[in-house]
Amino acid sequence: MIIFGAGGDLTKRKLIPALFYLCQGGLLPETFAILGLDRLEMDDEAFRDGMADAVKEHVGSAWNEATWRKLCHHLHYMQGNIKEEATYMAVCERLSRLDAERGTEGNYLFYLAVPPSLFPDITRHLGAVGLTAESEDDWRRVIIEKPFGNDVESAKALNGMLHETLDEDQIYRIDHYLGKETVQNIMVFRFANGFIEPFWNRQHIDHVQITVAESVGVEHRGEYYEQAGALRDMIPNHLLVLLGFLAMEPPNSFESGAVRDEINKVLDAIHPLTPEQVLTHAVRGQYGEGVMPTGERVPAYRSSPGVSPTSGRETYAALKLTMDNWRWAGVPFYLRTGKRLAAQYTEIVIQYKRAPKIMFKNTDIEQMTPDMLVLRIQPNEGIQMSFGAKIPGPRMRVGTVNMDFCYADYFGNAPATGYETLIYDCMNGDATLFKHADTVEKGWEIVESVMDVWNALPARDFPNYAAGTWGPAAAGDLLKNDGRLWRRIKTP
Ligand code: BG6
Repeated sequence: MIIFGAGGDLTKRKLIPALFYLCQGGLLPETFAILGLDRLEMDDEAFRDGMADAVKEHVGSAWNEATWRKLCHHLHYMQGNIKEEATYMAVCERLSRLDAERGTEGNYLFYLAVPPSLFPDITRHLGAVGLTAESEDDWRRVIIEKPFGNDVESAKALNGMLHETLDEDQIYRIDHYLGKETVQNIMVFRFANGFIEPFWNRQHIDHVQITVAESVGVEHRGEYYEQAGALRDMIPNHLLVLLGFLAMEPPNSFESGAVRDEINKVLDAIHPLTPEQVLTHAVRGQYGEGVMPTGERVPAYRSSPGVSPTSGRETYAALKLTMDNWRWAGVPFYLRTGKRLAAQYTEIVIQYKRAPKIMFKNTDIEQMTPDMLVLRIQPNEGIQMSFGAKIPGPRMRVGTVNMDFCYADYFGNAPATGYETLIYDCMNGDATLFKHADTVEKGWEIVESVMDVWNALPARDFPNYAAGTWGPAAAGDLLKNDGRLWRRIKTP
């Protein structure tokens, strides 16, 4: 495994800790090597020491000296400038030596943990020195991080450039939401249980809510965020991954082609918003200063480093989407995401239709909480079903109760970075949890009309929500206008 950007944050926070967990689980082969490449001059020993510190910090109590020793002697480093051809000749030479010393047999996984602007350069250079050419015995795969373009056109251009040197089945586009156990479990929940699917359609479901709420601000990523904003940063990728798994038809198998085809059908069925609909079905917001539920007073987005003091960039986005297919016609999917909200959590709410008639006296159907299934993606991972039950007593009264499954109760708190499955799958050539070129392009198509209208009509009311609240009032109206409410979780 060759990591471009070995000195960067991703390598320290996620990649090497994920390899540590794979090693701990006995899921790395004996004959392998990791070669980190970056600009800084250092030898293997210094790289190993730096990574030991990073792993200790990020795996916390899961740190284990014996596992580290096992992993550490597979780690190597070389200095190189990613933009220079000579670097790639040197990589070739170093890899041949490692092949001989370690018996790695010529299979290479290139991990591009670098800014997206460098993807085409790196793959072109790798192609030029013959490192992307596969043979019958050796595979060559490339993992690419998001953001994958910033609209349909740039995503198509990037795909085109990558395809000059790589076949589509050599490209593994990562969306780290697909590495989350609870996201993978959406498919298991739906398709490994016989009782779910009969109720998973427009006959029974009133609407769906997908919330990715973050209490963190933009931190040190102001410059990137000024370009991206909440819509681009989260919706075409992470939120559409959740929507795709929720709405897809059962694939014929859990093979990458079969799953991808079903996800693409969902994306094709989503009605892109017309410019008029953007005004009523899409909401944007930007946080001003405010007080978080912890009591901490935090500054406005516009005061963040790298952000313009008059910025018109959104830190909150909500959309109402509908689908043109047999299963979901008429069922709205409400999506929302934002920074500096009152809580940090990701969840999916499936709200069921009310019973057609309530025959119990003294029960006002309008006052009853509708039946709901809540898939808690993170934190407090689990699944909750809320439904009506008789309140004990001589009078017939109905109240709402919850049935709750918590991952931790059954499976403990297995520590993970979320990258283990993805790296492991890539090593095994399984692309099911990676994104195909056309899935990425379709994701951009869905949000493009919103981006166009928002760019053409700069927001005049920013900042329009205070840090530590639930976002702009208009996001509430998006549901209220349809006679619905966002589910609200209790803040700490
Ligand atoms: C990233 C976004 O892709 O996902 C960040 O760029 C966001 O802005 C992050 O904070 C959220 O990921 P998670 O796993 O913390 O929900």
